[in-house]
Amino acid sequence: MKNRLAAGNWKMNGTRADLAEISALAAAHDGAKVDILICPPATLITAATELSGDIAIGAQDCHPAAKGAHTGDLSGSMLADAGASAVILGHSERRADHGEDDDLVAQKAAAAHEAGLTAIICVGESLAQREAGEALDVIAAQMAGSIPGTATATNTVIAYEPCWAIGTGLTPTGAQIGEVHGAMRAILSDRMGRDSSDVRLLYGGSVKGKNAPEIFAIPDVDGALVGGASLKEADFTPIINALKG
Ligand code: PGA
Repeated sequence: MKNRLAAGNWKMNGTRADLAEISALAAAHDGAKVDILICPPATLITAATELSGDIAIGAQDCHPAAKGAHTGDLSGSMLADAGASAVILGHSERRADHGEDDDLVAQKAAAAHEAGLTAIICVGESLAQREAGEALDVIAAQMAGSIPGTATATNTVIAYEPCWAIGTGLTPTGAQIGEVHGAMRAILSDRMGRDSSDVRLLYGGSVKGKNAPEIFAIPDVDGALVGGASLKEADFTPIINALKG
């Protein structure tokens, strides 16, 4: 049985002073029932692992190559060496800010798998695509292009993050989330067969303690990828508790 997953994406937030939030999370939660992952900036990964108890620590991006002349980049094996066990890939902010396309995301995910990291692959439509009725087609295309052949139920997590819900306070309706997650499960089933039911499907975009219970009651939602509300233990704990049920 897969554990549900509460994943926090700190984005470009956090200095050493904020490691206290990770200590507080570690004090508040043991590893029972729900897997908890925090992805701080790479500068904090090693220090975070020293304080994180049962909470796993991950990264927010990696380069597709294992090493070489790529100034400023970090490889999956470097992140694993620093203590990361997972990496977020294809986040819409990287797709938008750095022009990342599905093919690059798939290469990064394969590199993450090679380094022993769990790849959390993000997909999600823009508001214009949602309004044009294209959401399911966009997500299907992103999944086809971004999930590498190395993906298994244990080394891959898929996060549905509608771009228009990230950091906006807007969330899709329960029916919309359910429709997308059901479609994602069907796509994985076609690709992976029976193992697909063990792939964790996260919802992300303006998840807060208040809306978490409703979101986690939707079929095929196996957890959340949380930005703003993962920065403080006091905000993240209600979300984690909602997942514990
Ligand atoms: P948010 O971000 O929770 O702040 O909306 C989610 C994400 O980008 O992963």
